[in-house]
Amino acid sequence: MATIAANLCRRLEGKVAVITGGASGIGEATVGLFTKHGAKVIVADISKKAGQSFSPDATYIHCDVSKEEDVSAAVDLAMEKHGKLDIMFNNAGIVETKSRKAMEYDMEEFQRVLSVNINGVMHGIKHAGRVMVPRKNGCIISTASVGGLLGGLSPYGYTASKHAVIGLTKQGAAEMGRYGIRVNCVSPAALATDITLRFFGKSSWEEFCTKAEWEASLKKIANLKSHILETQDIAEAALYLASEESKFVSGHNLVVDGGSTVVNHDLSIYQ
Ligand SMILES: NC(=O)c1ccc[n+]([C@@H]2O[C@H](COP(=O)([O-])OP(=O)(O)OC[C@H]3O[C@@H](n4cnc5c(N)ncnc54)[C@H](O)[C@@H]3O)[C@@H](O)[C@H]2O)c1
Repeated sequence: MATIAANLCRRLEGKVAVITGGASGIGEATVGLFTKHGAKVIVADISKKAGQSFSPDATYIHCDVSKEEDVSAAVDLAMEKHGKLDIMFNNAGIVETKSRKAMEYDMEEFQRVLSVNINGVMHGIKHAGRVMVPRKNGCIISTASVGGLLGGLSPYGYTASKHAVIGLTKQGAAEMGRYGIRVNCVSPAALATDITLRFFGKSSWEEFCTKAEWEASLKKIANLKSHILETQDIAEAALYLASEESKFVSGHNLVVDGGSTVVNHDLSIYQ
Protein backbone atom coordinates (compact mmCIF):
# COMPACT_ATOMS: atom_id res chain seq x y z
CA MET A 1 0.00 0.00 0.00
CA ALA A 2 2.78 2.39 0.97
CA THR A 3 4.58 1.60 -2.33
CA ILE A 4 1.47 2.39 -4.38
CA ALA A 5 1.06 5.71 -2.56
CA ALA A 6 4.75 6.54 -3.08
CA ASN A 7 4.47 5.72 -6.80
CA LEU A 8 1.42 7.94 -7.12
CA CYS A 9 3.36 10.76 -5.49
CA ARG A 10 6.43 10.33 -7.74
CA ARG A 11 4.98 9.63 -11.17
CA LEU A 12 8.10 10.82 -13.03
CA GLU A 13 10.78 9.28 -10.82
CA GLY A 14 14.07 9.05 -12.75
CA LYS A 15 12.71 10.89 -15.81
CA VAL A 16 14.44 13.79 -17.56
CA ALA A 17 12.44 16.60 -19.18
CA VAL A 18 13.06 19.73 -21.20
CA ILE A 19 10.32 22.35 -20.73
CA THR A 20 10.35 25.35 -23.06
CA GLY A 21 8.75 28.52 -21.77
CA GLY A 22 9.39 27.05 -18.31
CA ALA A 23 10.08 30.35 -16.55
CA SER A 24 6.50 31.60 -16.43
CA GLY A 25 2.84 30.61 -16.36
CA ILE A 26 1.99 27.07 -17.49
CA GLY A 27 5.66 26.17 -18.00
CA GLU A 28 6.67 27.34 -14.53
CA ALA A 29 3.81 25.39 -12.92
CA THR A 30 4.86 22.30 -14.90
CA VAL A 31 8.50 22.62 -13.84
CA GLY A 32 7.27 22.66 -10.22
CA LEU A 33 4.95 19.67 -10.68
CA PHE A 34 7.41 17.55 -12.70
CA THR A 35 10.24 18.04 -10.17
CA LYS A 36 7.83 17.28 -7.33
CA HIS A 37 7.12 14.00 -9.11
CA GLY A 38 10.83 13.12 -9.28
CA ALA A 39 11.89 14.46 -12.70
CA LYS A 40 15.06 16.38 -13.51
CA VAL A 41 14.12 19.34 -15.68
CA ILE A 42 15.90 21.64 -18.11
CA VAL A 43 14.04 24.98 -18.12
CA ALA A 44 14.52 26.45 -21.60
CA ASP A 45 13.32 30.04 -21.89
CA ILE A 46 14.34 33.39 -23.38
CA SER A 47 14.14 35.06 -20.00
CA LYS A 48 13.51 34.53 -16.35
CA LYS A 49 12.21 36.95 -13.76
CA ALA A 50 14.74 38.91 -11.67
CA GLY A 51 15.80 36.73 -8.75
CA GLN A 52 13.72 33.78 -9.97
CA SER A 53 14.97 30.45 -8.71
CA PHE A 54 13.86 26.93 -9.55
CA SER A 55 13.94 23.65 -7.69
CA PRO A 56 17.44 22.13 -7.24
CA ASP A 57 16.28 19.50 -9.76
CA ALA A 58 15.78 22.14 -12.46
CA THR A 59 18.48 23.82 -14.58
CA TYR A 60 17.84 27.01 -16.54
CA ILE A 61 19.23 27.51 -20.05
CA HIS A 62 18.71 30.59 -22.21
CA CYS A 63 16.85 29.30 -25.27
CA ASP A 64 14.96 31.05 -28.04
CA VAL A 65 12.82 28.26 -29.48
CA SER A 66 12.60 30.05 -32.84
CA LYS A 67 16.34 29.29 -33.22
CA GLU A 68 17.03 25.66 -33.99
CA GLU A 69 20.53 25.78 -32.48
CA ASP A 70 19.11 26.97 -29.12
CA VAL A 71 16.61 24.08 -28.91
CA SER A 72 19.34 21.67 -29.96
CA ALA A 73 21.56 23.03 -27.15
CA ALA A 74 18.78 22.59 -24.56
CA VAL A 75 18.37 18.95 -25.59
CA ASP A 76 22.16 18.47 -25.53
CA LEU A 77 22.27 19.92 -22.00
CA ALA A 78 19.75 17.29 -20.84
CA MET A 79 21.94 14.59 -22.41
CA GLU A 80 25.19 15.93 -20.92
CA LYS A 81 23.75 16.49 -17.45
CA HIS A 82 21.43 13.50 -17.13
CA GLY A 83 22.40 11.09 -19.94
CA LYS A 84 18.95 10.93 -21.62
CA LEU A 85 15.75 12.80 -22.47
CA ASP A 86 12.38 11.21 -21.62
CA ILE A 87 10.00 14.16 -21.97
CA MET A 88 10.08 17.14 -24.33
CA PHE A 89 7.45 19.75 -23.46
CA ASN A 90 7.22 22.32 -26.29
CA ASN A 91 5.31 24.90 -24.33
CA ALA A 92 6.80 28.31 -25.20
CA GLY A 93 4.42 30.53 -27.10
CA ILE A 94 3.61 34.13 -27.92
CA VAL A 95 0.57 36.01 -29.22
CA GLU A 96 0.13 39.12 -31.35
CA THR A 97 0.15 42.30 -29.31
CA LYS A 98 -0.94 44.67 -32.12
CA SER A 99 -2.52 42.91 -35.09
CA ARG A 100 -6.16 41.90 -35.05
CA LYS A 101 -7.99 42.55 -38.36
CA ALA A 102 -6.66 41.15 -41.66
CA MET A 103 -6.53 44.42 -43.59
CA GLU A 104 -4.52 46.17 -40.86
CA TYR A 105 -2.33 43.17 -40.19
CA ASP A 106 1.40 43.59 -39.53
CA MET A 107 3.00 40.70 -41.46
CA GLU A 108 6.24 40.93 -39.46
CA GLU A 109 4.23 40.22 -36.34
CA PHE A 110 2.60 37.28 -38.14
CA GLN A 111 6.03 35.81 -38.97
CA ARG A 112 7.25 36.34 -35.41
CA VAL A 113 4.29 34.44 -33.94
CA LEU A 114 4.70 31.58 -36.43
CA SER A 115 8.46 31.39 -35.85
CA VAL A 116 7.99 30.84 -32.10
CA ASN A 117 4.73 28.88 -32.04
CA ILE A 118 5.27 26.63 -35.08
CA ASN A 119 9.03 26.56 -35.77
CA GLY A 120 9.67 26.32 -32.03
CA VAL A 121 7.51 23.20 -31.73
CA MET A 122 9.06 21.67 -34.86
CA HIS A 123 12.56 22.29 -33.47
CA GLY A 124 11.48 20.52 -30.29
CA ILE A 125 10.08 17.51 -32.15
CA LYS A 126 13.19 17.31 -34.35
CA HIS A 127 15.79 17.48 -31.58
CA ALA A 128 13.85 15.40 -29.07
CA GLY A 129 13.47 12.81 -31.85
CA ARG A 130 17.24 12.94 -32.46
CA VAL A 131 17.97 11.62 -28.97
CA MET A 132 14.77 9.63 -28.30
CA VAL A 133 14.67 7.52 -31.48
CA PRO A 134 17.99 5.70 -30.78
CA ARG A 135 16.66 4.80 -27.29
CA LYS A 136 13.24 3.87 -28.71
CA ASN A 137 11.68 5.69 -25.79
CA GLY A 138 10.25 9.05 -24.84
CA CYS A 139 7.30 11.35 -25.15
CA ILE A 140 6.79 14.75 -26.74
CA ILE A 141 4.09 17.13 -25.55
CA SER A 142 3.28 20.55 -27.00
CA THR A 143 0.99 23.32 -25.84
CA ALA A 144 -1.66 24.10 -28.43
CA SER A 145 -4.82 26.03 -27.48
CA VAL A 146 -8.57 26.16 -27.94
CA GLY A 147 -7.54 28.75 -30.57
CA GLY A 148 -6.29 25.70 -32.51
CA LEU A 149 -9.86 24.35 -32.67
CA LEU A 150 -12.05 27.38 -33.37
CA GLY A 151 -11.72 30.60 -35.33
CA GLY A 152 -12.27 33.98 -33.71
CA LEU A 153 -10.84 33.22 -30.28
CA SER A 154 -7.43 34.75 -31.02
CA PRO A 155 -5.62 36.73 -33.76
CA TYR A 156 -4.67 35.22 -37.14
CA GLY A 157 -1.09 34.15 -36.44
CA TYR A 158 -1.89 32.64 -33.07
CA THR A 159 -4.92 30.78 -34.44
CA ALA A 160 -2.97 29.46 -37.44
CA SER A 161 -0.02 28.45 -35.29
CA LYS A 162 -2.11 26.54 -32.76
CA HIS A 163 -3.95 24.67 -35.54
CA ALA A 164 -0.45 23.82 -36.81
CA VAL A 165 0.65 22.52 -33.39
CA ILE A 166 -2.23 20.04 -33.46
CA GLY A 167 -1.17 19.00 -36.99
CA LEU A 168 2.47 18.62 -35.97
CA THR A 169 1.33 16.46 -33.06
CA LYS A 170 -0.54 14.06 -35.37
CA GLN A 171 2.38 14.01 -37.80
CA GLY A 172 4.87 13.34 -35.01
CA ALA A 173 2.70 10.54 -33.63
CA ALA A 174 2.51 9.00 -37.12
CA GLU A 175 6.28 8.95 -37.56
CA MET A 176 7.43 8.18 -34.03
CA GLY A 177 4.98 5.46 -32.97
CA ARG A 178 7.19 2.75 -34.48
CA TYR A 179 9.98 3.86 -32.13
CA GLY A 180 7.74 3.73 -29.05
CA ILE A 181 7.65 7.52 -28.79
CA ARG A 182 4.32 9.15 -27.96
CA VAL A 183 3.48 12.62 -29.31
CA ASN A 184 0.56 14.57 -27.82
CA CYS A 185 -0.57 18.11 -27.14
CA VAL A 186 -2.65 19.92 -24.57
CA SER A 187 -5.12 22.70 -25.44
CA PRO A 188 -5.95 25.10 -22.62
CA ALA A 189 -8.77 27.62 -22.62
CA ALA A 190 -7.98 31.16 -21.45
CA LEU A 191 -6.18 31.54 -18.15
CA ALA A 192 -4.45 34.32 -16.26
CA THR A 193 -0.79 34.38 -17.33
CA ASP A 194 1.59 36.96 -18.81
CA ILE A 195 0.62 36.08 -22.40
CA THR A 196 -2.94 37.13 -21.56
CA LEU A 197 -1.72 40.50 -20.31
CA ARG A 198 0.38 41.02 -23.44
CA PHE A 199 -2.60 40.16 -25.62
CA PHE A 200 -4.57 42.94 -23.92
CA GLY A 201 -1.57 45.32 -24.17
CA LYS A 202 -1.05 45.48 -20.38
CA SER A 203 2.12 44.99 -18.35
CA SER A 204 0.63 44.09 -14.96
CA TRP A 205 -2.56 42.66 -13.54
CA GLU A 206 -3.05 45.81 -11.44
CA GLU A 207 -3.14 47.78 -14.70
CA PHE A 208 -5.58 45.28 -16.26
CA CYS A 209 -8.22 44.22 -13.75
CA THR A 210 -8.63 42.59 -10.36
CA LYS A 211 -8.55 38.81 -10.01
CA ALA A 212 -12.25 38.87 -9.09
CA GLU A 213 -13.13 40.85 -12.26
CA TRP A 214 -11.07 38.50 -14.42
CA GLU A 215 -12.70 35.43 -12.86
CA ALA A 216 -16.16 36.94 -13.30
CA SER A 217 -15.52 37.60 -17.00
CA LEU A 218 -14.24 34.05 -17.54
CA LYS A 219 -17.17 32.53 -15.64
CA LYS A 220 -19.58 34.44 -17.84
CA ILE A 221 -18.30 32.70 -21.00
CA ALA A 222 -17.43 29.35 -19.41
CA ASN A 223 -19.41 26.16 -19.86
CA LEU A 224 -18.24 24.55 -16.62
CA LYS A 225 -18.94 27.12 -13.93
CA SER A 226 -17.48 25.34 -10.90
CA HIS A 227 -13.82 26.25 -11.39
CA ILE A 228 -11.58 28.89 -12.98
CA LEU A 229 -8.83 27.37 -15.12
CA GLU A 230 -5.38 27.69 -13.53
CA THR A 231 -1.84 26.91 -14.70
CA GLN A 232 -1.75 23.98 -12.27
CA ASP A 233 -4.62 22.32 -14.19
CA ILE A 234 -2.56 22.38 -17.40
CA ALA A 235 0.52 21.15 -15.54
CA GLU A 236 -1.58 18.19 -14.31
CA ALA A 237 -2.67 17.46 -17.90
CA ALA A 238 0.98 17.54 -19.02
CA LEU A 239 1.88 15.24 -16.10
CA TYR A 240 -0.72 12.73 -17.27
CA LEU A 241 0.63 12.83 -20.85
CA ALA A 242 4.23 12.51 -19.57
CA SER A 243 3.57 9.62 -17.18
CA GLU A 244 3.03 5.89 -17.56
CA GLU A 245 -0.71 6.38 -16.98
CA SER A 246 -0.99 7.54 -20.61
CA LYS A 247 1.25 4.83 -22.10
CA PHE A 248 -1.15 4.04 -24.98
CA VAL A 249 -2.13 7.66 -25.71
CA SER A 250 -0.53 9.20 -28.80
CA GLY A 251 -1.58 11.77 -31.40
CA HIS A 252 -4.07 13.12 -28.88
CA ASN A 253 -5.08 16.72 -28.25
CA LEU A 254 -6.06 16.90 -24.58
CA VAL A 255 -8.47 19.84 -24.46
CA VAL A 256 -8.71 21.44 -21.00
CA ASP A 257 -11.53 23.92 -21.45
CA GLY A 258 -14.38 22.74 -19.20
CA GLY A 259 -16.30 21.70 -22.32
CA SER A 260 -16.43 25.20 -23.84
CA THR A 261 -15.51 24.10 -27.37
CA VAL A 262 -18.06 21.26 -27.56
CA VAL A 263 -21.17 23.24 -26.68
CA ASN A 264 -22.86 26.24 -28.22
CA HIS A 265 -25.07 27.83 -25.60
CA ASP A 266 -26.65 30.15 -28.17
CA LEU A 267 -28.22 27.05 -29.75
CA SER A 268 -28.71 25.12 -26.51
CA ILE A 269 -32.02 23.91 -25.03
CA TYR A 270 -30.51 24.60 -21.56
CA GLN A 271 -30.99 28.36 -21.35
N1 LIG B 1 -2.65 31.81 -21.07
C1 LIG B 1 -3.59 31.38 -21.88
O1 LIG B 1 -4.74 31.85 -21.86
C2 LIG B 1 -3.28 30.25 -22.85
C3 LIG B 1 -4.35 29.56 -23.44
C4 LIG B 1 -4.07 28.56 -24.36
C5 LIG B 1 -2.76 28.23 -24.65
N2 LIG B 1 -1.73 28.92 -24.07
C6 LIG B 1 -0.37 28.55 -24.44
O2 LIG B 1 0.34 28.14 -23.30
C7 LIG B 1 1.75 28.29 -23.51
C8 LIG B 1 2.37 28.91 -22.30
O3 LIG B 1 1.86 30.23 -22.16
P1 LIG B 1 1.50 30.86 -20.74
O4 LIG B 1 0.04 31.05 -20.70
O5 LIG B 1 2.16 30.11 -19.65
O6 LIG B 1 2.14 32.32 -20.95
P2 LIG B 1 3.45 33.00 -20.32
O7 LIG B 1 3.63 34.23 -21.12
O8 LIG B 1 3.29 33.12 -18.85
O9 LIG B 1 4.61 31.95 -20.62
C9 LIG B 1 5.23 31.84 -21.86
C10 LIG B 1 6.70 31.57 -21.65
O10 LIG B 1 7.31 31.37 -22.93
C11 LIG B 1 8.53 32.10 -22.95
N3 LIG B 1 8.87 32.41 -24.34
C12 LIG B 1 8.30 33.33 -25.16
N4 LIG B 1 8.95 33.34 -26.35
C13 LIG B 1 9.93 32.41 -26.26
C14 LIG B 1 10.92 31.95 -27.15
N5 LIG B 1 11.08 32.50 -28.37
N6 LIG B 1 11.76 30.97 -26.73
C15 LIG B 1 11.64 30.45 -25.49
N7 LIG B 1 10.73 30.84 -24.61
C16 LIG B 1 9.89 31.82 -24.99
C17 LIG B 1 8.26 33.35 -22.12
O11 LIG B 1 9.47 33.96 -21.69
C18 LIG B 1 7.43 32.76 -20.98
O12 LIG B 1 8.25 32.28 -19.95
C19 LIG B 1 1.88 29.08 -24.81
O13 LIG B 1 2.19 28.22 -25.86
C20 LIG B 1 0.49 29.66 -25.00
O14 LIG B 1 0.21 29.92 -26.36
C21 LIG B 1 -1.97 29.90 -23.16
